[in-house]
Parts: sequence; C-alpha cells; structure tokens
Amino acid sequence: MPAMEIIILPTPAEVGRLAARKIAQVVTRRPEAVVGLATGSSPMAIYAELAAQVRSGTLDARRVRGVALDEYVGIPAEHPESYRSVITRQVTEPLGLDPGNVFVPDGRATDIPAACAAYEAAIRGLGGVDIQILGIGANGHIGFNEPTSSFASRTRIKTLAPQTRADNARFFADPDEVPTHCLTQGLGTIMDAHELLLVAQGEAKAAAIAAAVEGPVTSICPGSILQFHPEATVVIDETAAADLQLVDYYKHTYANKPDWQRF
Ligand code: GLP
Repeated sequence: MPAMEIIILPTPAEVGRLAARKIAQVVTRRPEAVVGLATGSSPMAIYAELAAQVRSGTLDARRVRGVALDEYVGIPAEHPESYRSVITRQVTEPLGLDPGNVFVPDGRATDIPAACAAYEAAIRGLGGVDIQILGIGANGHIGFNEPTSSFASRTRIKTLAPQTRADNARFFADPDEVPTHCLTQGLGTIMDAHELLLVAQGEAKAAAIAAAVEGPVTSICPGSILQFHPEATVVIDETAAADLQLVDYYKHTYANKPDWQRF
C-alpha cells in the first residue's frame, strides 16, 4: 500500500528502537535481505539495538547483505573514519554479517566512473535494496546528495557542501582533514530501494525534516524526493519534528493505526 508514514516519538532512543524493529521485521521475513546502510550519528542507535538483538539470540543477521550509501574519496579504506571502517565497526562485526556480503563504493579507485558503475552493477546483482536506512543532513541531503542533486542521479562523485564538511568535522582531528569529495548512491539509486526508512533526531534537523516532509518536492532539499517513494517511513523524535505543521495529525494517525498495520 503506497504511503509515506511520519512517526514522532518522545526520545531519540525510541526512534532507534522502533526503526530497528522495522529492520528486524524485514530480516526475519527475508534472512538474506539487502539492507541499505547509512553512516553518521542518526542510525547508530538502530545498529546498537540490532546488535543487542543478535547478542540475545532474537535476531539472526548472518545472511543479511549490506550496501553502503556513500564513501569518502581520498582517504584510505583503513582510515577509522572511512565509511568502510565505520560500517565494519558499527554493523558488520556487531551484527555478524559476512564481510564478503557488505558493499561500499570504492573511494580510492583510480577510475572513479568505473567504480561508480561497478557499484550500481553490484546493487543490481544483489537484486536491489529491500530497505534503505537514511539519515538527513541539516541542508536536506540524503546519502551525500547535496542540494540541487539530480533526482535521476546514480552513484557518482560529489563535492561536499561546506556545511556538510563542517558538520562532519567532529569525526576528524582537524577540520582540514575532512575530505572534499565523496562517492554516493544517487537519488535515482536510493529511490529504487523497495522501502525507505529515514531517521532523524535533534533540533538541528527540524528545518530539513519540515522541508523534506511538508515542503515542495525540490532538488534544493534532496530529502523531499521521499514524497515520491511508494514506501517511505520517517521516524523522528519530538525535537526533529518541531517545525512540522501537522505534528498533531501525524501523532493522531499513528496512535490510531490498526494493529495489523503496525511493525
Ligand atoms: C552524513 C552522511 C549521510 C547522513 C547525514 C547526516 O554525512 N553521508 O548518510 O545521513 O550526513 O549525518 P548525521 O546522522 O551524522 O547527522
């Protein structure tokens, strides 16, 4: 049933728990599910919750295939802040995925267009992404698709917006160390995923969430393309919901959902 669902929860911890439940449901239904993996702070609680389920034996993720959204260009894969390293640390190891089943764009490739085409082919070879986890940048980016990215874009090189570099400086010892370029799944690539699950927490995301969910669909806010996806779920905390006009309506709708529609 095509829908964009907005779920507002009191705390960031509850956002992580509910989003993890959604992922766990997909994996339980299809143990070899292809899960699109976002990095950044937003999905960390999801991964921590899934790892706890794996440890307690309530979830078996060993057959899951993982596909990263993006990767920096210009830092070695072994760099602790490369998205390859972050995903190994936060997902592959704690969830017990087979490292051979985890795909990340090759930001060190000498032939970047070939690496991007190979990444698209790898996703196709897996049969596409079942569920794509997304965060959103304060400027509305998803993956590293910065404002005015083409809605038809596929995996390609992008220049990071100055705001994105500043936002991500916290992960590096020196702001100058933040790479200037990245490879990212395009908006067209992301839209091909069967389901999208966007999570956001904190007031710094309130404007981007309002623009993505209630604003016009426009490339100045790449996240607004979710409005065109047939199965998009947006799970946010109260502070990230602060700029939405229809907060009461979303809460009312969620509170009155029939049980069979819940995950
Ligand atoms: C990052 C990533 C995105 C992420 C976004 C928000 O740099 N490339 O995939 O969703 O920007 O980051 P955070 O979750 O740390 O706020």
